Amino acid sequence: MSKVSANMHDDIEKVLLTEEEIKEIVNRIGKQITEDYKDKNLVLVSVLKGSVVFMADLMRAIDINAQIDFMVVSSYTGTSTTSGQVKIIKDLDLDLTGLDLVIVEDILDTGKTLHSLMKILSTRNPKSIRLCTFLDKPDRRVAPVKADYIGAVVPDEFVVGYGLDYDQNYRNLPYLGVLKPHVYES
Ligand code: PRP
Repeated sequence: MSKVSANMHDDIEKVLLTEEEIKEIVNRIGKQITEDYKDKNLVLVSVLKGSVVFMADLMRAIDINAQIDFMVVSSYTGTSTTSGQVKIIKDLDLDLTGLDLVIVEDILDTGKTLHSLMKILSTRNPKSIRLCTFLDKPDRRVAPVKADYIGAVVPDEFVVGYGLDYDQNYRNLPYLGVLKPHVYES
Protein backbone atom coordinates (compact mmCIF):
# COMPACT_ATOMS: atom_id res chain seq x y z
CA MET A 1 0.00 0.00 0.00
CA SER A 2 1.25 3.48 -0.80
CA LYS A 3 2.57 5.42 2.16
CA VAL A 4 2.17 8.73 0.37
CA SER A 5 -0.11 11.01 2.41
CA ALA A 6 -3.13 12.72 0.88
CA ASN A 7 -1.58 15.98 2.03
CA MET A 8 1.88 15.81 0.47
CA HIS A 9 3.26 18.45 2.84
CA ASP A 10 2.76 16.00 5.73
CA ASP A 11 5.45 13.74 4.26
CA ILE A 12 8.15 16.40 4.35
CA GLU A 13 10.64 16.25 7.21
CA LYS A 14 12.27 19.60 6.48
CA VAL A 15 12.38 22.26 3.81
CA LEU A 16 15.77 22.56 2.12
CA LEU A 17 14.95 25.40 -0.28
CA THR A 18 11.95 27.70 0.04
CA GLU A 19 10.08 29.09 -2.96
CA GLU A 20 11.80 32.42 -2.35
CA GLU A 21 15.27 30.83 -2.29
CA ILE A 22 14.48 28.91 -5.48
CA LYS A 23 13.46 32.15 -7.20
CA GLU A 24 16.80 33.71 -6.30
CA ILE A 25 18.67 30.68 -7.64
CA VAL A 26 16.74 30.72 -10.92
CA ASN A 27 17.26 34.45 -11.38
CA ARG A 28 20.99 34.16 -10.68
CA ILE A 29 21.48 31.39 -13.25
CA GLY A 30 19.17 33.09 -15.75
CA LYS A 31 21.25 36.28 -15.58
CA GLN A 32 24.48 34.33 -15.93
CA ILE A 33 23.25 32.42 -19.00
CA THR A 34 21.89 35.66 -20.51
CA GLU A 35 25.34 37.20 -20.16
CA ASP A 36 27.27 34.14 -21.36
CA TYR A 37 25.10 33.46 -24.42
CA LYS A 38 24.27 36.92 -25.74
CA ASP A 39 26.32 36.40 -28.91
CA LYS A 40 25.52 32.71 -29.29
CA ASN A 41 22.76 30.44 -30.59
CA LEU A 42 21.31 29.12 -27.36
CA VAL A 43 19.23 25.97 -27.20
CA LEU A 44 17.97 24.68 -23.86
CA VAL A 45 17.43 20.93 -23.66
CA SER A 46 15.34 19.66 -20.77
CA VAL A 47 15.66 16.03 -19.74
CA LEU A 48 12.17 14.94 -18.64
CA LYS A 49 10.46 14.60 -16.31
CA GLY A 50 12.33 15.97 -13.31
CA SER A 51 13.64 19.12 -14.98
CA VAL A 52 10.30 20.39 -16.25
CA VAL A 53 9.66 22.82 -13.38
CA PHE A 54 13.19 24.23 -13.37
CA MET A 55 13.15 24.51 -17.16
CA ALA A 56 9.87 26.42 -17.18
CA ASP A 57 11.19 28.94 -14.67
CA LEU A 58 14.73 29.18 -16.01
CA MET A 59 13.76 29.83 -19.63
CA ARG A 60 11.74 32.87 -18.50
CA ALA A 61 14.67 34.15 -16.46
CA ILE A 62 16.84 34.19 -19.60
CA ASP A 63 16.55 37.45 -21.49
CA ILE A 64 17.90 36.47 -24.91
CA ASN A 65 16.38 34.32 -27.60
CA ALA A 66 16.55 30.63 -26.79
CA GLN A 67 15.20 27.61 -28.57
CA ILE A 68 13.94 24.79 -26.38
CA ASP A 69 13.64 21.06 -26.79
CA PHE A 70 12.93 18.00 -24.67
CA MET A 71 14.28 14.48 -24.28
CA VAL A 72 13.20 11.40 -22.40
CA VAL A 73 15.88 8.87 -21.53
CA SER A 74 15.64 5.56 -19.75
CA SER A 75 17.65 4.83 -16.65
CA TYR A 76 21.09 3.51 -17.44
CA THR A 77 21.73 -0.18 -17.75
CA GLY A 78 24.52 -1.71 -15.70
CA THR A 79 24.54 -0.33 -12.19
CA SER A 80 28.06 -0.87 -10.99
CA THR A 81 30.18 0.86 -13.62
CA THR A 82 30.62 4.52 -14.43
CA SER A 83 29.82 3.93 -18.09
CA GLY A 84 26.10 3.15 -17.87
CA GLN A 85 24.40 3.90 -21.15
CA VAL A 86 21.08 5.67 -21.34
CA LYS A 87 18.53 4.70 -23.95
CA ILE A 88 16.72 7.49 -25.75
CA ILE A 89 12.96 7.09 -25.37
CA LYS A 90 12.05 10.47 -26.91
CA ASP A 91 14.69 12.22 -28.96
CA LEU A 92 15.13 15.90 -29.76
CA ASP A 93 13.26 17.46 -32.65
CA LEU A 94 15.99 20.02 -33.34
CA ASP A 95 19.14 19.49 -35.35
CA LEU A 96 21.93 20.62 -32.98
CA THR A 97 24.45 21.47 -35.70
CA GLY A 98 26.15 24.76 -34.88
CA LEU A 99 23.96 25.44 -31.83
CA ASP A 100 25.15 26.28 -28.32
CA LEU A 101 23.52 23.67 -26.17
CA VAL A 102 22.70 23.94 -22.48
CA ILE A 103 21.35 20.74 -20.96
CA VAL A 104 18.91 21.51 -18.15
CA GLU A 105 18.62 18.95 -15.36
CA ASP A 106 16.95 18.82 -11.99
CA ILE A 107 19.69 16.84 -10.27
CA LEU A 108 23.19 15.58 -10.92
CA ASP A 109 23.54 12.52 -8.74
CA THR A 110 25.85 9.64 -9.74
CA GLY A 111 26.43 11.50 -13.01
CA LYS A 112 25.83 8.40 -15.12
CA THR A 113 22.85 9.83 -16.99
CA LEU A 114 24.60 13.03 -17.96
CA HIS A 115 27.89 11.34 -18.75
CA SER A 116 26.17 9.10 -21.24
CA LEU A 117 23.85 11.80 -22.60
CA MET A 118 26.63 14.33 -23.16
CA LYS A 119 28.57 11.72 -25.11
CA ILE A 120 25.56 11.06 -27.33
CA LEU A 121 24.74 14.73 -27.91
CA SER A 122 28.33 15.74 -28.60
CA THR A 123 28.29 13.53 -31.72
CA ARG A 124 25.60 15.76 -33.22
CA ASN A 125 27.92 18.67 -34.01
CA PRO A 126 26.70 21.32 -31.57
CA LYS A 127 29.03 24.30 -31.37
CA SER A 128 29.23 23.91 -27.59
CA ILE A 129 27.66 21.92 -24.76
CA ARG A 130 27.24 22.99 -21.17
CA LEU A 131 25.35 21.50 -18.29
CA CYS A 132 23.00 23.37 -15.98
CA THR A 133 21.63 21.53 -12.97
CA PHE A 134 19.27 22.79 -10.32
CA LEU A 135 20.81 20.48 -7.71
CA ASP A 136 24.21 18.88 -7.37
CA LYS A 137 24.77 15.91 -5.05
CA PRO A 138 28.56 15.47 -5.34
CA ASP A 139 28.75 12.87 -2.55
CA ARG A 140 27.13 10.32 -4.84
CA ARG A 141 29.15 10.97 -7.99
CA VAL A 142 30.71 7.99 -9.78
CA ALA A 143 30.96 9.30 -13.37
CA PRO A 144 33.29 12.21 -14.18
CA VAL A 145 30.72 14.94 -14.78
CA LYS A 146 30.83 18.55 -13.65
CA ALA A 147 28.05 21.05 -14.14
CA ASP A 148 28.75 24.53 -15.50
CA TYR A 149 25.77 26.10 -13.74
CA ILE A 150 24.67 24.80 -10.35
CA GLY A 151 21.64 25.97 -8.39
CA ALA A 152 22.51 24.42 -5.04
CA VAL A 153 24.70 21.67 -3.65
CA VAL A 154 22.66 19.27 -1.54
CA PRO A 155 23.65 16.56 0.93
CA ASP A 156 22.94 12.89 0.29
CA GLU A 157 19.34 12.98 1.49
CA PHE A 158 16.07 11.98 -0.18
CA VAL A 159 14.98 15.26 -1.74
CA VAL A 160 11.62 15.83 -3.43
CA GLY A 161 9.66 18.72 -4.88
CA TYR A 162 10.26 21.32 -7.58
CA GLY A 163 10.12 18.52 -10.16
CA LEU A 164 11.88 15.81 -8.16
CA ASP A 165 9.84 12.76 -7.28
CA TYR A 166 9.56 9.74 -5.10
CA ASP A 167 7.69 7.03 -6.99
CA GLN A 168 6.29 9.74 -9.33
CA ASN A 169 4.83 11.76 -6.43
CA TYR A 170 5.74 15.17 -4.95
CA ARG A 171 6.91 16.70 -8.25
CA ASN A 172 4.40 19.55 -7.83
CA LEU A 173 5.62 20.64 -4.39
CA PRO A 174 6.65 24.27 -4.97
CA TYR A 175 9.65 23.99 -2.63
CA LEU A 176 12.45 21.45 -2.14
CA GLY A 177 12.03 19.17 0.85
CA VAL A 178 13.55 16.11 2.48
CA LEU A 179 11.17 13.17 2.53
CA LYS A 180 10.30 11.50 5.84
CA PRO A 181 12.01 8.08 5.81
CA HIS A 182 8.84 6.14 6.70
CA VAL A 183 7.47 6.97 3.23
CA TYR A 184 10.19 5.03 1.39
CA GLU A 185 11.32 2.54 4.04
CA SER A 186 9.57 -0.82 3.97
C1 PRP B 1 16.94 11.81 -12.47
C2 PRP B 1 17.44 13.20 -12.93
C3 PRP B 1 18.58 12.86 -13.82
C4 PRP B 1 19.14 11.59 -13.22
C5 PRP B 1 20.34 11.91 -12.42
O1 PRP B 1 16.07 11.31 -13.43
O2 PRP B 1 16.44 13.91 -13.59
O3 PRP B 1 18.19 12.65 -15.15
O4 PRP B 1 18.12 11.03 -12.37
O5 PRP B 1 20.84 10.75 -11.82
P1 PRP B 1 22.32 10.23 -12.07
O6 PRP B 1 23.23 11.42 -11.95
O7 PRP B 1 22.50 9.25 -10.94
O8 PRP B 1 22.38 9.58 -13.40
P2 PRP B 1 15.13 10.04 -13.18
O9 PRP B 1 15.72 8.85 -13.85
O10 PRP B 1 14.82 9.93 -11.71
O11 PRP B 1 13.82 10.41 -14.00
P3 PRP B 1 12.84 11.69 -13.85
O12 PRP B 1 13.60 12.90 -14.35
O13 PRP B 1 11.68 11.35 -14.72
O14 PRP B 1 12.48 11.83 -12.38
